[in-house]
Amino acid sequence: MNINQTVALVTGGGSGLGEATTRALAAKGGKVAILDLAKSQGAAIAQELGSNILFLEGDVTNEEQIAAAVDRAVAAFGAVHAVINCAGIATAGKTVGKNDQPLDLGPFKRTIEINLIGTFNVIRLAAARMVKNTLNAEVERGVIINTASVAAFDGQIGQVAYSASKGGVVGMTLPIARDLSQYGIRCCTIAPGIFETPMLMGLPDSARKALEASIPFPSRLGRPTEYAALVCHIIENPMLNGETIRLDGAIRMAQR
Ligand SMILES: NC(=O)c1ccc[n+]([C@@H]2O[C@H](COP(=O)([O-])OP(=O)(O)OC[C@H]3O[C@@H](n4cnc5c(N)ncnc54)[C@H](O)[C@@H]3O)[C@@H](O)[C@H]2O)c1
Repeated sequence: MNINQTVALVTGGGSGLGEATTRALAAKGGKVAILDLAKSQGAAIAQELGSNILFLEGDVTNEEQIAAAVDRAVAAFGAVHAVINCAGIATAGKTVGKNDQPLDLGPFKRTIEINLIGTFNVIRLAAARMVKNTLNAEVERGVIINTASVAAFDGQIGQVAYSASKGGVVGMTLPIARDLSQYGIRCCTIAPGIFETPMLMGLPDSARKALEASIPFPSRLGRPTEYAALVCHIIENPMLNGETIRLDGAIRMAQR
């Protein structure tokens, strides 16, 4: 898929990995609908990048808002060819925590709702539009790229909700690719290690250094541009499908 002929919907496009993806796609001539919360920087980024970039306010967990956002992206740009799911939250809490109390189900459910069900909500609504796209030269109609985490595989103490949500994203990657193969729509997932985004800002310097030391090579936090470069490659490479790719400098997270 040629990025300069691609319309992409980037959830969480107002910050971090999603923002870097929006900027990379825009630089390669793609059109991007940033889907993010009203309080995000999405509107400002769209305004900065010009008329090929649109900001759509929406919560990935809301069925009506996402259906309307897909409609607006199609109305503005004619189609949606790529969906990049970057919206997500990080939460922490042990199975049995403070004062030997069980973890509240509220935050656990919220994490699953945004990271897993929200991702699927966007996929199902966008894919139902993508099936109407005309085939490109590679006989493709679209591509879906999700964001899991290495925590899907090496969840640490306190990551039970986050790891469960990201494990779900990994688990649905192959069946979605299989479901959509008849339409020429691919689905891949990126499992990032530790990246330098607002999600990780606010960490004390000592904690950041310890994190960096735990990454074999390169021993530094990942750059959002490196995540965006992989998104661009997945869009452009029609043979990538049904797979989760770790992007992590060979980190295997310890239990804490
Ligand atoms: N930064 C890392 O080290 C890292 C590592 C592994 C995985 N990830 C995953 O990558 C994704 C992006 O992370 P990031 O570091 O860029 O985070 P970020 O906090 O910088 O950006 C997340 C964006 O998602 C948006 N968002 C949150 N909830 C939303 C909702 N319900 N509906 C719509 N938008 C919503 C936020 O407004 C924000 O703009 C997340 O899914 C995260 O779990 C990040």
